Amino acid sequence: MRLGVFDSGIGGLTVLRAIRRRWPGHATVYLGDTARVPYGIKSRQTVIHYARQNTRLLLAEAVDLLVIACNTASAFALEALRDLPVPVVGVIEPGAAAAVGATRSGRIGVIGTAATIASGAYEAAIRRLAPAARVSSRACPLLVPLAEEGWETTAVARATLERYLEGWLPAPASDPETPDVLVLGCTHYPVFKPLLSELLGPGITLIDSADAVAAALAPWLDAAPPEPAPGHRLLVTDAADGFARAARRLLGETVIDLQVVDLLPAVADKQLQEG
Ligand code: DGL
Repeated sequence: MRLGVFDSGIGGLTVLRAIRRRWPGHATVYLGDTARVPYGIKSRQTVIHYARQNTRLLLAEAVDLLVIACNTASAFALEALRDLPVPVVGVIEPGAAAAVGATRSGRIGVIGTAATIASGAYEAAIRRLAPAARVSSRACPLLVPLAEEGWETTAVARATLERYLEGWLPAPASDPETPDVLVLGCTHYPVFKPLLSELLGPGITLIDSADAVAAALAPWLDAAPPEPAPGHRLLVTDAADGFARAARRLLGETVIDLQVVDLLPAVADKQLQEG
C-alpha cells in the first residue's frame, strides 16, 4: 500500500518514522506544510481548510490510506475528512488510548498546541475510555518553533519547559494533583523527550502517540501484501533546507527524496471539477 501522512512541518516525521519501522513493506508519501506552519495558533476553520488542501494533494499522489500526523489537524479536521475514498487515521484516539492504558493513578496530563488544548479533544477521547480520569491540559505554544529550529536540547528549551510545567515539577508521586502520565499531544514534542524525562523524573510516563498510531494501521496493513521496493517520498510546501536537515536527523537517513510542491494546482483542479 501507499500511505499518505501529513503535518504542518517536521513534527509528523516522528509518526512517519514509527510507521516505517512498524510497516517496512509499504510505500509512504509525507507532506510537511512548511509554508504555513504553525497550525496550532490558527482557527478551526483555517486548519480544516489547510487539512483539506493537504488531503487533496496526497490523494492526487494515489495514497491508499491517510494519516493525519498532526494533533491540531486531527482535533479540528478529522470529522471533516471522514467521507474520503480512503481510510483516515488521526493521532488523538491512539494517544488517548495509550495514556489510559499507562496511568495507574487516573491523573493524566496533556500538553499540546493552543488549538489542540482549546479543542478539548484529548479530554473527550480520554473520558470516552476512562470516564473517571482526571485530565489537566496545558498549551505550550513556544515548543513548535523551538522544535522547527532544532533547539530541543538548548537552555532556551529547558527554561521554556520549566515555565510550562510549573507545578508539575518535580513530580512527587504523593501529590494528588501531579499526573503520572503526560501525553505529548503534539507531534513536534517527542524531540523534547530527553529533556522532559530529565525535568519530570521517573514518576511520569511520557506518551508519544507515534507507536500507537503505527499500531492503529493494523486493520488495513496486516493483510496487505508488502511492496517489492517501497519508495518513500517527502513533500514540503516551502523551506526545504531546514526540513531536509530535520528529516535526515529524525529518520536517520543521509539520502532522502524531497521535493517542494505547490498546493494550489491540486486546489485549482478540485475547484474546476466542482465548477
Ligand atoms: N505538529 C502539529 C501538532 O501535532 C502541529 C504543530 C503546529 O503546527 O503548531 O499539533
